[in-house]
Amino acid sequence: MWSKKAILAYTIAVMSQVQAQSTPKVLVYTATAGYRHDSIPTAIEVLGQNAQKYGVEFQFSEDMSLFTNDTLSTFDGVMFVSNSDEVLDDAGQAALKTFFQSGGVYTGVHAGSACLFNDENYEQAVGAFFDYHPPIQDATFTRLNTTHPATANVPDRWSFQEEVYHFRSNPRDNGAVVLMSVDESSYVNNGTSTGNYPPMGDPHPIAWYIEAPLSAQPLGSGVDKAGRSFYTSLGHLNSTWQNETYINHVMSGLKWALDGASTKAYGVGIVGNGNGNSSSTVTGTTSSSSNGASATSSGTSASLTSSSTSSAPSGSSSGSTSGSVSVKSIPGQALVAGAGLAGIVILGMGLVL
Ligand SMILES: *[C@@H]1O[C@H](CO)[C@@H](O)[C@H](O)[C@H]1NC(C)=O
Ligand SMILES: *[C@@H]1O[C@H](CO)[C@@H](O)[C@H](O)[C@H]1NC(C)=O
Ligand SMILES: *[C@@H]1O[C@H](CO)[C@@H](O)[C@H](O)[C@H]1NC(C)=O
Ligand SMILES: *[C@@H]1O[C@H](CO)[C@@H](O)[C@H](O)[C@H]1NC(C)=O
Ligand SMILES: *[C@@H]1O[C@H](CO)[C@@H](O)[C@H](O)[C@H]1NC(C)=O
Ligand SMILES: *[C@@H]1O[C@H](CO)[C@@H](O)[C@H](O)[C@H]1NC(C)=O
Repeated sequence: MWSKKAILAYTIAVMSQVQAQSTPKVLVYTATAGYRHDSIPTAIEVLGQNAQKYGVEFQFSEDMSLFTNDTLSTFDGVMFVSNSDEVLDDAGQAALKTFFQSGGVYTGVHAGSACLFNDENYEQAVGAFFDYHPPIQDATFTRLNTTHPATANVPDRWSFQEEVYHFRSNPRDNGAVVLMSVDESSYVNNGTSTGNYPPMGDPHPIAWYIEAPLSAQPLGSGVDKAGRSFYTSLGHLNSTWQNETYINHVMSGLKWALDGASTKAYGVGIVGNGNGNSSSTVTGTTSSSSNGASATSSGTSASLTSSSTSSAPSGSSSGSTSGSVSVKSIPGQALVAGAGLAGIVILGMGLVL
């Protein structure tokens, strides 16, 4: 059988492969310049609570000064949640474009489509801009894709109180594949368009993904691959954010986008939470306003005895680090570790340390 020394040596070998991937780091941006959703604090809290479970690290902020080449380059993805209007200045928009051209990933939630209306690059990342919604009411959302991670676990017909978004263009024209629609007979559409826009296409888009968004073109030098986009228009109410089916939809959509493997956390690309640089900190001020916001850092390095190197800076929640081992096997690769590396599982050896 294996001596302790052999196990140790093997474990160290495995761990060096584990470290080839680090936890993807995502800037969650909730800035608003107009309408402000009162569910933003709930969104921040719930996202923070789910970071470790889904193997991502979040930094929450409403500070547009984080949108520089240098600072964005430390992130694998940006996630725009319930924003409104001009939440970035020209320099910030340019830095975001550079981030996309560098393989950076985009995820948008709810009014993430209702900002930066004059920024064509942002429109290409999100897919389509928000136009209007009729008053919030019960509506039935329909699933168009049963295998995509974002919709694998939602009901075929999903009914709840929501603002049904109508869009200024057809996101399919920007390469979107629609994951969810809405049953248009399930709600009363007495809202009014804000302009004379082209049709948003049929069936009515509600959530979608873009495999290679135009926002990344032309790719920067040394960049092989565009970061994916994921967008869902759902998420107006606190009660929605507090629903597990919903948070699975959002987190799985984000994770799918990151798993396109276009960034440093995946050992490629020129932006992201790269190997050995996981502690690289962001310069400038971080995380404003966010009540209850917590940046959850998950263990990207582990020692044999440790239960991950997590720290929960400022704020509440999700400080607990033990328990969740997230290790999955990928053919041809020994191990790929997600967050919360609380132990090491050696697959194929029948050994659990
Ligand atoms: C949603 O939750 C926030 C606190 O997280 C609260 O301030 C707000 O009033 C809630 N909204 C509603 C409509 O209850
Ligand atoms: C950001 O990076 C892009 C691409 O390398 C470059 O063209 C641009 O000048 C940089 N912006 C600043 C402010 O340095
Ligand atoms: C569902 O999503 C997967 C990606 O996860 C994609 O390969 C497939 O083509 C999609 N199916 C439909 C019907 O859009
Ligand atoms: C739309 O319908 C709702 C519910 O029936 C009603 O409360 C609202 O006043 C209507 N709005 C308009 C612009 O007609
Ligand atoms: C969340 O939403 C699903 C689907 O609508 C529903 O079945 C479930 O009861 C909801 N869970 C909670 C805790 O509200
Ligand atoms: C880590 O960061 C340093 C300094 O910022 C940089 O020179 C180096 O290329 C980075 N390494 C990786 C693998 O990202």
